[in-house]
Amino acid sequence: MGQVITSADQLDFTTGDISDMPLPTDVLMVRPLHFSVDYVINPHMADQVGKVDKIEANNEWELVRSLFNQVGMNVHVIEDQEGLPDMVFCANQSLPYIDEDGKRHVFMSIMHADERKDEVPYIEQWYRQHGYEICYFDEDKISDFEGCGDAIWHTGKRMLWGGYGYRSSLEAYDTISEKFDIPVLAVELVDESFYHLDTCLCVLDENTALIYPEAFTDEGLAMIDKMFDTVIRASKYEAEELFACNASCPDGRNVIIQQGCTDVNKNLRDNGFSVHEVSTYEFLKSGGSVFCMKMLLW
Ligand code: ARG
Repeated sequence: MGQVITSADQLDFTTGDISDMPLPTDVLMVRPLHFSVDYVINPHMADQVGKVDKIEANNEWELVRSLFNQVGMNVHVIEDQEGLPDMVFCANQSLPYIDEDGKRHVFMSIMHADERKDEVPYIEQWYRQHGYEICYFDEDKISDFEGCGDAIWHTGKRMLWGGYGYRSSLEAYDTISEKFDIPVLAVELVDESFYHLDTCLCVLDENTALIYPEAFTDEGLAMIDKMFDTVIRASKYEAEELFACNASCPDGRNVIIQQGCTDVNKNLRDNGFSVHEVSTYEFLKSGGSVFCMKMLLW
């Protein structure tokens, strides 16, 4: 099954043909004591340098943490580091995986921006202490890969969605699909406001996705439409200003999402999901929201 698929006509299987993967039970979060916008590496950060309210950011983060707890996830917390103002976005430094024998593995990211490269060893240390097998890319061949910012598990399945174009290279998915022996559905991102896949695709459950269509090519959209029975489409306002697609649905039922995504939330409820709204306004200044503020683990 180790293959990278880049167009719908290469899809000769359905999710039913893919073996099951357990749902994540745990979450890793990084306490944002040093979070701020100090540089601009995505369009959302422009004009926001120096504008983060640190106390408010910590309050928002605490509420996100308690919501993950409330929906039944076991939350681990590590401290961030001075001089690494984006470390709180711990979806980005790694891609964890649990194999058929229950053994846990993790790929460590090669951050695209120099400003974020020093975050990775701190996260790696946590995985080491928790018994994961650590995997690395060949840096001579792969220039960048930003973890679960771009690599998103198809809920409950040994199959990965892989975004590329801004922060991750398509070639990274060859390494991942080979190592984990899984199909990777690679989709190109074409709007720099949606620079990570997790800004425009939220896998809600095995059959349902939330997307911002304009962030994808026609090829990518065709793959998404083929693999999900229901595709909820967010408006430009809710996707770009409120990061609606950066919601997290860790259990296929409860969706934690930035507050104010009125149309998306109605759609989610109509499709049977429980919606938990939370304010992440301070983090939106840096181009991130709920999904980027945690790592799902087993
Ligand atoms: N300021 C951070 C960056 O540009 C935000 C990362 C948000 N993470 C995400 N998975 N979308 O790298």
